[in-house]
Amino acid sequence: TNPLRLGIAGLGTVGTGVVRIIQTHAEMLAQRAGRPVEITAVSARSKEKDRGIPLGDYAWEDDLVDLASRDDVDVLVELIGGDAGPAKQAAEKALLAGKDVVTANKAMLALHGQALAEAAEAAGAVLRFEAAVAGGIPCVKALTEGLAGNEIKRVLGVMNGTCNYILTRMEQAGLPYEEVFAEAESLGYLEADPTLDVGGIDAGHKLALLAAIAFGTQPNFDGLAIEGIERVAIEDIRHAADMGFRIKLLGVAQMTGRGLVQRMSPCLVPAGSPLGQLQGATNMVVIEGDASGQIVLRGAGAGEGPTASAVLSDVMDIARGTRLSTFGQPAIALRKVRSAMSSVP
Ligand code: HSE
Repeated sequence: TNPLRLGIAGLGTVGTGVVRIIQTHAEMLAQRAGRPVEITAVSARSKEKDRGIPLGDYAWEDDLVDLASRDDVDVLVELIGGDAGPAKQAAEKALLAGKDVVTANKAMLALHGQALAEAAEAAGAVLRFEAAVAGGIPCVKALTEGLAGNEIKRVLGVMNGTCNYILTRMEQAGLPYEEVFAEAESLGYLEADPTLDVGGIDAGHKLALLAAIAFGTQPNFDGLAIEGIERVAIEDIRHAADMGFRIKLLGVAQMTGRGLVQRMSPCLVPAGSPLGQLQGATNMVVIEGDASGQIVLRGAGAGEGPTASAVLSDVMDIARGTRLSTFGQPAIALRKVRSAMSSVP
């Protein structure tokens, strides 16, 4: 049977993880998909860097857009990052050519997801992004498939592991924000631009995506009220603890009579609740369906294995023949109408 041929754009932590899974589990994946899943070409900044995986069997493209245009690539797996620039150009190029795109790029999707979804739909291509939200937690799939029979009442959660690490460490070690921030930095947790983490922006991108999926709206990042954790003081954490609460950077999205309300901010949660118990660089996504009730998903929101696991989830669905995009098809007209109702809380 004909293999599914992947072009991998970006060989950082996540891209390397994807290659590693495909090399390690080729037979298992082929069995599950009913056809081989192969890498035909790759592209990354440095060709020389030793990533601990053999790359000699794959064609090398210096240019991302060239990778997206190759005849022997069926699916572009975009793991470069950045909300605009080469990642977006390559994704657009692939979709316009009718190639499917799997991406972990939360910033690109939160800001340009609607345009990319429209390009995909027009070309009959598939756009999927399980890895863009909460890393290894299959929360996108939970919403689109597992809870497909539910009207979603609310989605909420902790979607930035770095912030959760900083907040729990402040409480447990009694250290001020600045000191724990420096610690997180030395552990390599922070994004290249740390404001994305501690400013709540990275978590906001993820919440905007989950909300769009849950409520069938366009992703509306600009409609999110965002406050980061920069101003959370050790005294705030102590006062909260005295009253039986913990402070979490919590994202909440809910459809109300006045439209979609989305908020990302430091919140008090009961210390004994699942969210209150969440320690360290971990994520938790809580989904409330009208029939299912509350579903709680916990896991690693970043890192090689967890994020690559989520990428493979999408790759495998495409290998098995799904033609469904994460935002759903055809739903663009509906999303346009509903986003007009969105309001800033
Ligand atoms: N900086 C992010 C986090 C990485 O800490 O959760 C995953 O998006």
